[in-house]
Amino acid sequence: MRLVLTGPPGAGKGTQAQALAAMWRIPQIASGDLLRAVVREDSELGREAAGYMGRGQLVPDEFVLKLIADRFRKKDAQGGFILDGFPRNLAQAEALAKRLEHAGLKLEKVVAITLPDEKIVKRISGRRTCRKCSAMYHILFEPPAKPGVCDKCGGELYQREDDAEGTVRERINVYDAMTRPLLDYYGRLGILAQVDGIGRPEEVEKRILAALSGVAKPK
Ligand code: AP5
Repeated sequence: MRLVLTGPPGAGKGTQAQALAAMWRIPQIASGDLLRAVVREDSELGREAAGYMGRGQLVPDEFVLKLIADRFRKKDAQGGFILDGFPRNLAQAEALAKRLEHAGLKLEKVVAITLPDEKIVKRISGRRTCRKCSAMYHILFEPPAKPGVCDKCGGELYQREDDAEGTVRERINVYDAMTRPLLDYYGRLGILAQVDGIGRPEEVEKRILAALSGVAKPK
């Protein structure tokens, strides 16, 4: 299965990608997670990336494409993957298509999760993520059993720095200007499915599975 999950910030890409990756036993490749790992290393490149992310802007393509290329080379990505938050603009989409074509492969489906702006802000402001295993929670909708502690591994839960309301608004603007045009691009290729992101995560998952039913079945 070679799948792209796209959609505005907070639409639930990460939540759904984690569930689908476990179901299909293929990796979730999240460009945001790859970038945050570089930022944690505290290198010059990491500091540069952190600047873009803190402002809610896209990190330059060259940098992101190199991270994705390195991740694709790993053994676990050879049997398929779920791309979460990548590609983010036309240049990234074209680079991905070229890379897959070179390997004799194609994307099987692009699922765009839709969510209105007011729900985006509500979801993002309540998000908490585990520092250790990246599991995701929401203080109202998916609270952990013990506040601040991951149910799965006991790790510390934290709030992302780019989740401040002003930065979220900028991330929504960037999505509308740079990423939303990909819906036309993938629509023309006939591989786009748009899925309503409103409702419980399990309901959204059901809709995604229905959209994927003609493409692949979980292992
Ligand atoms: P990135 O990390 O990709 O963030 P994003 O796209 O803005 O998306 P989020 O991670 O905020 O949300 P999500 O859709 O995954 O939702 P989630 O499942 O967490 O990017 C961050 C930054 O990195 C970018 O701004 C940019 O600077 C840079 N970047 C990343 N990729 C790049 C690229 N390719 N090129 C250039 N720059 C790049 O859910 C959110 C919350 O809602 C959680 O708390 C969750 O528990 C809850 N939730 C989820 N589903 C539901 C539901 N159905 N009902 C109720 N609550 C729910």
